Parts: sequence; C-alpha cells; structure tokens
Amino acid sequence: MSRKSKELAQLIRERAGKAPVRLGLVLGSGLGHLAEAGNGTAIAYEELEGFPHAGVSGHNPKLVIAELEGVRLAIFGGRAHYYESGRADAMRLPLEVLHELGAESVLLTNAAGSLRADFPPGRLMLLEDHINFAGINPLIGEPSERRFVPMTEAYDPQIRKALRTAAHDEGMVLREGVYAWFSGPSFETPAEIRAIRELGADAVGMSTVPEVILARFLGLRVGAISVITNMAAGMSDEPISHEQTKAMAPIGAEKLEKILRRYLRGL
Ligand code: HPA
Repeated sequence: MSRKSKELAQLIRERAGKAPVRLGLVLGSGLGHLAEAGNGTAIAYEELEGFPHAGVSGHNPKLVIAELEGVRLAIFGGRAHYYESGRADAMRLPLEVLHELGAESVLLTNAAGSLRADFPPGRLMLLEDHINFAGINPLIGEPSERRFVPMTEAYDPQIRKALRTAAHDEGMVLREGVYAWFSGPSFETPAEIRAIRELGADAVGMSTVPEVILARFLGLRVGAISVITNMAAGMSDEPISHEQTKAMAPIGAEKLEKILRRYLRGL
C-alpha cells in the first residue's frame, strides 16, 4: 500500500473515528445524494490530497464515513472517470485508502445505457461480468507481479447472491447482466451498440470496470449495480444525453437505496 494512502487513512481516522470500515460504496452519476443517507463525517475530496477532482455534474465529491443499518461504511460520493484525465487509475488512491481503513469489499454503482428491451430505464442491473471494450487497464505500469489479476469471478458470487436476496426481500427482481465499458465521453454509435450486443453485453457505460480491476488487485471483494438511465444508442427514438442520465438516475437510486439497506442489515 502506498505511503499516501496510509497518511490519508490516518487523517480520515482522526476526523471520523478509529473504528474500521467494513464496506465501501462508490456512487455513480446522479446517485451522489446517497452520500447524505447516513449522518456520518463528510470530508471533501479537496481535503484529501491526491483524490480526484470529480468534475462531472450529478456527482457529489466527498467521502462520508457513516453508519448505515449498523454497518460502518465509506461512501464515495463521486468517482473519477477515465475520460476526465486519460488516467485509468484515477480511482486507485481512494480504493487503496478504503482498503487501508479496513474494508474487505466494495459496492460500485453506475448509470448505464441498456441493450435489452427487458431492462428499461429506471431498472437496476446487477453486474455478473464485464467486457473491457475500452481496452485500457489501470494496472498498466504496475511493477509488481500482483498485476496479473485473475478476473474469472471478479464480481463476487456471494455478494451477488446476497444482493439478489436483498432485492427479493424488498419485492424486487434484480436481474444480472454483462456491462461493457466504453471510454466516453462521447456516447456510443448505434453500430458500436449492435457490435457489443453480439458480443454478449447487456448494458453500456463509461466507468466501473477500471475500479473493479483495481479493487481485485487490492484484494477487495466486489459487487456492482447499474441504474439503467436510457436505452443505448440506436435502440430508441429518445435522444441520449447526460441530462437524461441525471434525470433518470434518481428513480433507480430509490430502489438502490432500499436494496442496499436490506443488504447491509443482512451483513
Ligand atoms: N452509454 C454510456 N454511458 C452511459 C449511458 C450510455 O448509453 N447511459 C448512462 N451512462
């Protein structure tokens, strides 16, 4: 672990208390308000040297250490995307800090476009796997042998099962699918969407995959949920925009919060 992450973890403990964090939660576009859910200690990313300057609207760039349903969490109100800086490892330090604070798993959330008629906007999709269509890797340049991270069960089967059960207990069906990562920031073309549909993708987005790779590298177990905010390019007459993402995300966020709370109660 880097010296920087140890120093930041120390600073966070001084502000929020020494008790270890059990779980990290990374909030995607339009979901940042979930960072207000607990009455925890909020620390702006600006105060955490090396944390990303999450500049995408719909994000809430602060770290909140909070107790939710009796579980101590580190909630990341915003994330850095590859398309903001050209750095795929922009979330490495926050994830290292999470690990340093004692977490053993991380739940990642995002907004995504759907490739399936049975996953309409407003639905949630549990990630069972991904396709790194951007072809970029946050571990390029990592010198240690640990860089050869197995990705066979990157999305932890136990966490997936627990999330499906939590959804079921809330009266919802949480279906699983494959998420394809495009770098963005431009949206995909209809031809690209047709291509990845042939390859087995169910949803498309501009985040999460580098964080999954980094989290597995750090030994964190991973769960991930997409909030479907739109049908992917060429799949509906509705024009695709970031505004649409922000407008639709809160609908999914409400469901997400219910599932999360139920999941936490079962931990
Ligand atoms: N494509 C990529 N990223 C997205 C989309 C999309 O259609 N919707 C929300 N994030």
